Amino acid sequence: MTNADDTVTFRVENRIAWVKFNRPDKRNCMSPTLNRRMMEVLDELEFRDDVGVLVLTGEGSAWSAGMDLKEYFRETEAKGLGATRQAQRESYGWWRRLRWYQKPTIAMVNGWCFGGGYGPLYSCDLAIAADEAQFALSEINWGILPGGGATKVVVDLMPLRDAMYHAMTGELIDGKKAAEWRLVNESVPLDKLEARVRELAEVLLKKNPVALKATKDAIRRVKEMTYDNAEDYLVRAQEAANSFDNEGRKEGIKQFIDDKTYKPGLGAYNLAK
Ligand code: ACO
Repeated sequence: MTNADDTVTFRVENRIAWVKFNRPDKRNCMSPTLNRRMMEVLDELEFRDDVGVLVLTGEGSAWSAGMDLKEYFRETEAKGLGATRQAQRESYGWWRRLRWYQKPTIAMVNGWCFGGGYGPLYSCDLAIAADEAQFALSEINWGILPGGGATKVVVDLMPLRDAMYHAMTGELIDGKKAAEWRLVNESVPLDKLEARVRELAEVLLKKNPVALKATKDAIRRVKEMTYDNAEDYLVRAQEAANSFDNEGRKEGIKQFIDDKTYKPGLGAYNLAK
């Protein structure tokens, strides 16, 4: 029998937390057990000093084959509306948690990514896929609309025509097409995927962590604001960030203006000083 704790694994190495969906025999589809465990893992990692970036990936041939049609849908629905709502809270809950996570997050999409998988995909700040990965909103293939946020995800990320085509046909697209349609930032050959994600994580690890959190939140928030509201939000967000990290920004100015040891247009200031 599977230990519930095994549904998600993680390891922390050089300030990168590598978190894995770990039901490879079920193509990492998301059961209520997995959803509960993922929330515990996110809780455990979020404020650890030895974690600077979180990478979400999958064991085996899948990133995630979406919701578990048996355990998440059929068995939960058989228990009634209360159980259905609870299962929704548990899955949407960890995706929301991830959307506003304290640390920067990268989806490393190693294989199959379907339906409900678009929730955590969107929650990650950045996404790099293998060229070989396969994506689909397969809901239409089994007779439902892309719920659980999936429709919103494609409308937010993709051009409207592509979102409509993707949702109405349920056709697979590979990592290259997913990058072209902006579901992910880029795709690389599978054998280069981990190295590329590590390289990106290392870029983030060199940035001021308070500024990174303020920036990622600002990007998501201002997307839905008018220009004037965004301008106001950003003034306040910057002032709030300053109160968490007064020294970092001053050090950044000093290393540029006084020490002349770096140029902000070309890279990050030295965090170690
Ligand atoms: N829910 C429940 N079980 C699943 C799911 C899923 N989403 N995906 C895979 N599995 C199970 C299979 O039933 C099978 O179980 P078994 O070994 O007990 O028979 C096992 O995982 C392996 O799956 P296969 O189909 O044998 O694996 P294969 O590599 O041939 O195919 C693929 C992989 C294409 C991902 C296929 O499993 C599939 O189509 N899965 C469903 C994808 C999907 O449409 N997900 C729902 C999206 S909609 C939503 O999330 C709301």
